[in-house]
Amino acid sequence: MLVLCIETSCDETAAAVVRDGREILSNVIHSQVKTHAPYGGVVPEIASREHLLKIGPIVQKALDDAHVRIDDLDAIAATAGPGLIGSLLVGLTYAKALAFAKHKPLVAVNHIEGHIYSICFEHPHVEFPALALVVSGGHTNLFWVESETCGFSRLKYTLVGKTRDDAAGEAYDKVAKLLGLSYPGGPVVDRLAKLGNSRAIPFPMVKISDRALDFSFSGIKTAVLRMVKNEGLEPRDEEATRTDPHRLDLLAGFQEGVVNMLWATTAKAAARLQPRSLILSGGVAANSRLKEVLAERCAAIGLKFHFPKPVFTTDNAAMIAAAGTAKFMRGETVGMDADADPNMRLAIGKETSGKRYRT
Ligand code: KG4
Ligand code: ZN
Repeated sequence: MLVLCIETSCDETAAAVVRDGREILSNVIHSQVKTHAPYGGVVPEIASREHLLKIGPIVQKALDDAHVRIDDLDAIAATAGPGLIGSLLVGLTYAKALAFAKHKPLVAVNHIEGHIYSICFEHPHVEFPALALVVSGGHTNLFWVESETCGFSRLKYTLVGKTRDDAAGEAYDKVAKLLGLSYPGGPVVDRLAKLGNSRAIPFPMVKISDRALDFSFSGIKTAVLRMVKNEGLEPRDEEATRTDPHRLDLLAGFQEGVVNMLWATTAKAAARLQPRSLILSGGVAANSRLKEVLAERCAAIGLKFHFPKPVFTTDNAAMIAAAGTAKFMRGETVGMDADADPNMRLAIGKETSGKRYRT
């Protein structure tokens, strides 16, 4: 079962060929980070144009690296949402054209489901029911996931918690920008925070006081903004920041605040819902401190913890292919009228209050 998959939901032009949903024959990623870095964030119009330029060569490279021809493929999959509409349309339309010209079935994949499937390459036997914490630049969602296996059966998702304001990755990117660090902020803050003392500067712990299983990062971000303003902190690059203990402490404190917020809500959900495992995925799942803290705390409460290796944390087509293969195996193909949906939902219902899960 050979599936070619195309992912262009944001600022990565990616294509992969995956056999049987698990064996990665190729995984090609063109990152537009350098293009968007001067703006401190992704510029949608520029992203679509760069996808247009790169999509042909990237798909060809994915086929060449995998040593397969289009004729050998069983299906073509593409991300159909959520994401930037212009970016999504480039990948989905390219996949449609290939599927139409070569008479191949077409599968439309939800990007967030792809992130959840990113753990399946290394952990094909996840213990369900599970909690899935998806933390990226655009999303911070906690899903209740039910299934018998992580194989090709349908996974059932219920949204139990989400951010009330910024996504976790967005908070990293904004804080990095405030201090003059490069885009994307996550990796650079992760590196620098290791050099600081997270307890040196007290950060307010955001309290989600009701029973909702939500997250909030704007308070922590605003605390950094206030310090930058009050102390008149000028922008400094990574090199200069390394020799500034105060900034390192500030970044360490910020990161600890984000990680504690993520764990506090996840722990509340775990206590209430009693999952068998926790799945971490999305760009912020690359964060070393987050993985360390979640691993420690999950071990303490006897909860299995799975996270993808770094190459599968940020956007890639292999994870979308894994989710796409599962859909294809279930016969969930789409026609040429399939549309991209920038706000595509994954979960059933909009349950975020947690009331249904009161134990
Ligand atoms: O999943 P992703 O590639 O794109 C979206 O779907 O949004 O996630 C990108 C986000 C960015 O905000 C980036 O700053 C963050 O993931 N990120 C990290 C780390 N690596 C990437 N955040 C914290 N620590 C990291 N090591
Ligand atoms: Zn993503």
